[in-house]
Amino acid sequence: MEKSKIRELTGQLTLEEKAGLCSGKDFWRTKAVERLGIPQIMVSDGPHGLRKQDDDADHLGINDAIKAVCFPAGCASASSFNRELIEEVGEALGEECQAEGVSTLLGPGVCIKRSPICGRNFEYFSEDPYVASEMATAFIKGVQSKGVGTSIKHFLANSQEHRRMSSSSDVDERTLREIYLASFEGAVKNAKPWTIMNSYNRINGTYAAENKKFLTDILRNEWGYEGIVVSDWGAVNNRVADLEAGCDLEMPAAHGNDELIIDAVKSGKLDESVLDTAVERLLDWIFKAVENKKERYVWDRKADHEKAKKAARETIVLLKNDDDILPLTKGSKVAFIGKYADKPRYQGGGSSHINSMYVTSAYAAAKDAGIENVNFAKGFDDKEDKYDEALANEAIELAKNSDVAVVFAGLPDSFESEGYDRRHMSMPLSQNRLIEEIAAVQPNIVVVLHNGSPVEMPWIDKVPAVLEAYLSGEGVGAAECEILFGDVNPSGRLAESFPLKLEHNPSYLYYFGEGDVTEYREGVYVGYRYYDKKQIPLLFPFGHGLSYTSFEYSDLTLDKEEYTEGEKLKVSVKVTNTGKRAGKEAVLLFVGARDTDYVLRPVKELRAFDKLSLSAGESKVVEFELDSRAFSYYETKIPDWFVESGEYEIIIARSAEDIRLVKSIKVTGTKKRPFKITPDTTCGDVLQFPECSEKIAKYVADYMTLFDDGDSAASEAMSPEMIKRQFEYNPLRSVVSFSLRKPISMEEVKKFVDGLNALINS
Ligand code: BGC
Repeated sequence: MEKSKIRELTGQLTLEEKAGLCSGKDFWRTKAVERLGIPQIMVSDGPHGLRKQDDDADHLGINDAIKAVCFPAGCASASSFNRELIEEVGEALGEECQAEGVSTLLGPGVCIKRSPICGRNFEYFSEDPYVASEMATAFIKGVQSKGVGTSIKHFLANSQEHRRMSSSSDVDERTLREIYLASFEGAVKNAKPWTIMNSYNRINGTYAAENKKFLTDILRNEWGYEGIVVSDWGAVNNRVADLEAGCDLEMPAAHGNDELIIDAVKSGKLDESVLDTAVERLLDWIFKAVENKKERYVWDRKADHEKAKKAARETIVLLKNDDDILPLTKGSKVAFIGKYADKPRYQGGGSSHINSMYVTSAYAAAKDAGIENVNFAKGFDDKEDKYDEALANEAIELAKNSDVAVVFAGLPDSFESEGYDRRHMSMPLSQNRLIEEIAAVQPNIVVVLHNGSPVEMPWIDKVPAVLEAYLSGEGVGAAECEILFGDVNPSGRLAESFPLKLEHNPSYLYYFGEGDVTEYREGVYVGYRYYDKKQIPLLFPFGHGLSYTSFEYSDLTLDKEEYTEGEKLKVSVKVTNTGKRAGKEAVLLFVGARDTDYVLRPVKELRAFDKLSLSAGESKVVEFELDSRAFSYYETKIPDWFVESGEYEIIIARSAEDIRLVKSIKVTGTKKRPFKITPDTTCGDVLQFPECSEKIAKYVADYMTLFDDGDSAASEAMSPEMIKRQFEYNPLRSVVSFSLRKPISMEEVKKFVDGLNALINS
């Protein structure tokens, strides 16, 4: 609807009707204003399937949610590193929403995986903001191309479930910008989600719903966001302040909060124009949904199930494959062991839980595919972490009498879910024990994992092959079977690091805070940004994932030798499939700043990726285009993105540890870091400015005489390097005073300093 009409309509609404539009009618619907032809619309969870509940909504349960297709959860879909695939999933979800009369799907979730134990990691994409933001962009574009809105969530810094409704994520500005805001920023700017959901938690002390800095100053004024902000369900605490901060819609139904808005307007505490702005945004959203609604739309359940299978195939990650034990030979005696071979764990618990259409298990898929000699033993139950002798003995016996044993293990539902965090990174001990015992009788053992986030693998050295199936949706079993028997070549790659143990994670000392305060003390060193810098050995690094074929990288080319801020840098690299079968390859591009004396920076940061499909022997050239942001860090003193001049590396890699090609480039930034010289500024800092060198040359020379008295004892005691540093680290006031051989008054120093400031700011 045109803006002028929306404004006109807003003008016709009573104060009560306007306040009413700012909260839900019930759990999932907005309120209608029939006299003016404003209909109600419906939203549903999200993200990786449609959880449309009937009228007796029960918040987190799956009470009578309609049957729908369960696609891979965020942890899995990000591992595809395939934007087109995620967009297709989004399209399918958009169609399902159309058919079911749902106007907005509540997803995707882009919170950063700060710690491997966040209970909701399975719903989120990555530890890296670029991956999260790119995946979200593809998802949003897919859903919204079908005329259905999305709700990117949970804004902001919502990386733990522990005390999620009261804890404050205390994060410094640079870290917020580079990591936690960045996972939203690209998606908000490039895909324009219809809605954004603010989180439950506080950010630096202020509740997200009430945080004007994020909901208005950054989201709308800086990023140009035009959609609505909806509260997470129950995240509104202070309705009037929230509205003023930019939270337009309270969900679900408000209990008395509409009246608070009405009273505030009547008493003059709230400017009615604030309410009008929110209502205009809400009407824009409601009518966009209405105008895009397709009547009598039918969705093809079988076709979408096939799409879920297709997605699952690309999300599964082959972590280890010693001696090419995989793929298995069809017809050989294979033991499928473990509950999840028959009843896979394929999705997480909580608000994203889908009442799935058709779940495939690997065991059923093997039978359906007519693969002979596959036998099954349950091995364990996951209701409690108890080693079941009878089940284990049966499984061990089967493993012994087979050519190969495939153990389908992982985390039970009770181990990870929305609402709470894990306390450790271990799988059930009973499962670990079973894996060890099978490995003792059957060296040809493959472990297939079903989990939403990293686990420790104490048995890793005894197991030659591991497949990380994550929570890959209802197509998981079919996809596992195809990968195990070689009908599909695995191409998933980890979008997060797997530490050897939880204690190695950078947030470990501070996660999940003290009381209601969680300080993000590791700063920008999240995931590989930390492991890289500290050179911490990992179980599996970010980006890791094997294939049944091999790839060679060559001909890394940059279209310029020197780069100046504001330009585009084109990077190309040739990738060749050097193996015997077709495969897909995700190519990662990291940028590493090398001259970083002044600012602390990670060794490298992911700035681009692409996924290629290559038949055996085929080569393709992949091209990337980088802009200034790829070289920037967030300089809080400006405050803005800042390109530091110096040498950078363009790094082409398969993973954070498997670096294939590197080229250096000289980069020139065009902005000046704001700098104010004071009497305490060190001489080294002043000498950064060539325009000051003449003015302080005399003092430099005088200072140097101190160490140049021809006495060999002095020069023995102080190396030239020490003298240089001594000078560089000396504050101006002390060097000037030394040079003059007398104490110098503060006025004199100030005059001198003012002269220098005039030079650097001219
Ligand atoms: C979750 C959201 C979800 C909403 C509606 C909340 O508890 O945090 O992600 O969309 O419930 O179910």
